[in-house]
Amino acid sequence: MNTILVIDDEPAIRAAVRDILQDEKYRVLLAEDGVVGLGILETERADLVILDVRLPRMGGMDVLREIRKRKPELEVLVISGHGTIDMAVQAVRLGAFDFIEKPLSIDRLLTAVRNGLSVASLRAENRRLRSAVLREDEIVGDSDAIRQVRDLADQAAKSDARVLITGENGTGKELVARRIHGASARSGGPFVAVNCAAIPDTLIESELFGHEKGSFTDAVSRRIGKFEAADGGTLFLDEIADMSLAAQAKVLRAIQDMRFERIGGQESLSADVRVIAATNKDLDSEISGGRFREDLYFRLAVVLVRVPPLRDRREDIPGLCRFFLTQRSGGDGRNLSEDALRFLSGHDWPGNVRELRNLMERVSVLSDEPEVSEATVRRLIGAGERAPADPCLVPGEYAGLKLLEAREKFERNYLVQKLRESDYTITKAAQAAGIYPSALHAKMKKYGIESGE
Ligand SMILES: Nc1ncnc2c1ncn2[C@@H]1O[C@H](COP(=O)(O)OP(=O)(O)OP(=O)(O)O)[C@@H](O)[C@H]1O
Ligand SMILES: [Mg+2]
Repeated sequence: MNTILVIDDEPAIRAAVRDILQDEKYRVLLAEDGVVGLGILETERADLVILDVRLPRMGGMDVLREIRKRKPELEVLVISGHGTIDMAVQAVRLGAFDFIEKPLSIDRLLTAVRNGLSVASLRAENRRLRSAVLREDEIVGDSDAIRQVRDLADQAAKSDARVLITGENGTGKELVARRIHGASARSGGPFVAVNCAAIPDTLIESELFGHEKGSFTDAVSRRIGKFEAADGGTLFLDEIADMSLAAQAKVLRAIQDMRFERIGGQESLSADVRVIAATNKDLDSEISGGRFREDLYFRLAVVLVRVPPLRDRREDIPGLCRFFLTQRSGGDGRNLSEDALRFLSGHDWPGNVRELRNLMERVSVLSDEPEVSEATVRRLIGAGERAPADPCLVPGEYAGLKLLEAREKFERNYLVQKLRESDYTITKAAQAAGIYPSALHAKMKKYGIESGE
């Protein structure tokens, strides 16, 4: 139901307009002057204002200016009386969308109201589309650190060089990859993202390179892989460090030669693909621990982009908060109070920009303060995920296992943990785990858990 605020000093006009609008099922709010009207707009959401130009206390023009300043998204329809046509014209210049003259004709009034509401909804839709389309790969922030990231991305976009992006969860690695693709000569081609951590080891090859019909038990039909799908565009290999060494070897070969075969296929295929990879792991330690191939690292990191965690570039926090609040609330002009911003700037953001974005989303949905208070953000910051947001619920080490294997692996790890915490005192560990000591004994035997492991 659309809400319309009527600001007019004549009781008879207010009552008449109210009746006409209520008959058309609009919700109507009434104010006898501009000061009262502006007060109502502070606490009530309205879709349209009908404003008399001649008002006591504060003139109609000043009320209009105030509305445009405070609620730029709100449409205003002006009523002009005898001898105030000039003011009505001026009101339109100030941003009122139309005016009607007294004595009011019901038809004119309703037509103008309908027009005003459709203008308002078109504008809202426009804002929504703009924020979705234009700002989709905008990297927000003015800190030196994020400027460097942006410059490096724009530089990388000019060539086909492989790019490796590192950074904690939620820092914006995929955003950087999309921006590079979008600004490159390949932007007309596909951007294909593969989350290497989410694909079990047994399937990664078929996922990347495709398979021929019947090549393995599950392969009922031929399928092209991500390398082929990305032909002419960009292949984004996300969570690259979560791939097994065997899969790494295959990827290395494919990106070196730009040739590969589908599983079960004879034909050697090629694709014109630009590879961008990302990881949240520390690749130095992955390499020294023998879990990541150094030669693959050097192939991928022709351009290396490190996206710093948000806590190391706190200057970016206020801008990001405003950006997401505006985006999530459809640009209805909401703001954060100074105190709220100060508090948010001091927060550590373990989930980085994603955590901040999610918080602003909750704020826009769960609070309707025009200026969001510190109390509100404090309350809502605890309401979401505390740990870094992880889109994958299952830790990588379990992802490739069958349910039974995963369950047993977890049970073993869990019990070893409880035993360690209680210095291998069986009774204590059993109590902590909520099972009988005899049951713990049996499980230790089953899993071959030694005392002191
Ligand atoms: N500087 C930024 N400006 C605007 N939006 C950002 C910025 N950084 C991140 N975002 C947004 O935050 C969210 C998380 O970013 P993204 O998915 O790119 O992170 P990531 O580093 O790939 O995280 P993960 O490691 O968890 O996959 C996205 O919605 C992204 O658009
Ligand atoms: Mg990501």
